[in-house]
Amino acid sequence: MEQLIIKGGVVLEGEVKISGAKNAAVAILPAALLASGTSCISNVPDIMDIKNLIEGLKSLGVSCDTTVENEIKMDCTNIATQKAVNEHVKKIRASYYFLGALLGRFKKAEVTMPGGCSIGDRPIDQHIKGFKALGATVKLEHGLIKVEAEKLVGTNIYLDVISVGATINIMLAATLAEGKTVLENCAKEPHVVDVANFLNKLGANIKGAGTDTIKIVGVKELKGTDYSIISDQIEAGTYMVGVAMTKGDVVIKNIIPKHLESITSKLREVGCTIDIMGDSLRIHVEKELIPCRVKTMSYPGFPTDMQPQIISLLSVIKGTSQVNETVWDSRFQYVAELKRLGAKISIQGSMANVTGVDGLSGCEVTATDLRAGAALFLCGLIADGETKINNAIYIDRGYEKIEEKLRGLGVDVRRVTKDE
Ligand code: EPZ
Repeated sequence: MEQLIIKGGVVLEGEVKISGAKNAAVAILPAALLASGTSCISNVPDIMDIKNLIEGLKSLGVSCDTTVENEIKMDCTNIATQKAVNEHVKKIRASYYFLGALLGRFKKAEVTMPGGCSIGDRPIDQHIKGFKALGATVKLEHGLIKVEAEKLVGTNIYLDVISVGATINIMLAATLAEGKTVLENCAKEPHVVDVANFLNKLGANIKGAGTDTIKIVGVKELKGTDYSIISDQIEAGTYMVGVAMTKGDVVIKNIIPKHLESITSKLREVGCTIDIMGDSLRIHVEKELIPCRVKTMSYPGFPTDMQPQIISLLSVIKGTSQVNETVWDSRFQYVAELKRLGAKISIQGSMANVTGVDGLSGCEVTATDLRAGAALFLCGLIADGETKINNAIYIDRGYEKIEEKLRGLGVDVRRVTKDE
């Protein structure tokens, strides 16, 4: 098991370049399956989820050329099977996108049931609702989701909950369907728009992505294309919180400011100075930070994927703050680990009440998921002594070159392999 060891007491200074967006990349690579021919996707983050996804694509018969860093050339001409069921597929939640893509092109797919994780139950009933509305039959058996359709016919679908995954997956399945699909109550996240832009570059006819209504007019076929993935709003937000916690001064490069607005606004509210400069921003802290209230919401609200990180910051801001988690039903499991570092947090249902402490004290902690891991390494930056984070593999799922980027900002961090 891999452990990250961070020496506390650092002030983050310098600059850091943000990588491609994980939640766009994990959808766009499967989406490429809809098109025969070769697609070249660039600005792909070099993270564990992508490595597993590529193995999943290869198991379907996709030839993947990854010789150029952060770029994947995928030839999806000869897909040998529509069963995405290998060990690598099981490891990633986003493998459910294979369903929409394979159903859309081949009218059938079998994919390993996605696991739950430590942020709560992760149902896919809305994905299934959309596939059925388009004309597919859906069976859940032997740990597999099996979808099949004689043909897919466009229709009107109203999502019961705002779901990033369901919005994207139904968009994938509808792209080659006969006729028009109107998808309502859609997620508006930047990665939803990025997937729609990629599909349109393949030759799809999709309008309205980024609003709550997306219209998809089915086309006959799609052709491979070149595409560059947007930068990761959550990676950027995570480093911004690190600067706030260490009272540093950092230029964050390769960002899309619009995608960061809710994060930028909240960090300004607690007292950070943030200057936007085109596709970069400078964040620094000139005064004592103040407590605040946070409510996680679907985009453009404050992202749930920044909830653990903002709680790490609020744990060391004098006063009392509240964080209301409205997206996931149990995304506070990591709080027990923050309390081992000395944080004072009490949880009542979906609300976290945070009382700022003067400092944290480093110790051995365990990451329970990707963003929990981020919260822990952020606390490690300021905790007294060393913080040893077990299950560093979770952090590697969503943060490219984490040691290199942290070292570039002045952090004393090393990785060790610890026997179980
Ligand atoms: C995506 O997950 C992200 N993952 C998550 O990021 C993120 O937290 C989430 O969107 C919300 O922004 C990827 O994109 C790979 P949802 P997803 O469907 O699509 C309920 C990270 O840290 N729901 O938008 O699985 C669900 O229970 C990860 O990068 C249903 O009820 O999330 C939740 O309460 C963690 N039925 C809410 O909707 C469904 O069929 C939002 O889930 C689907 C979802």
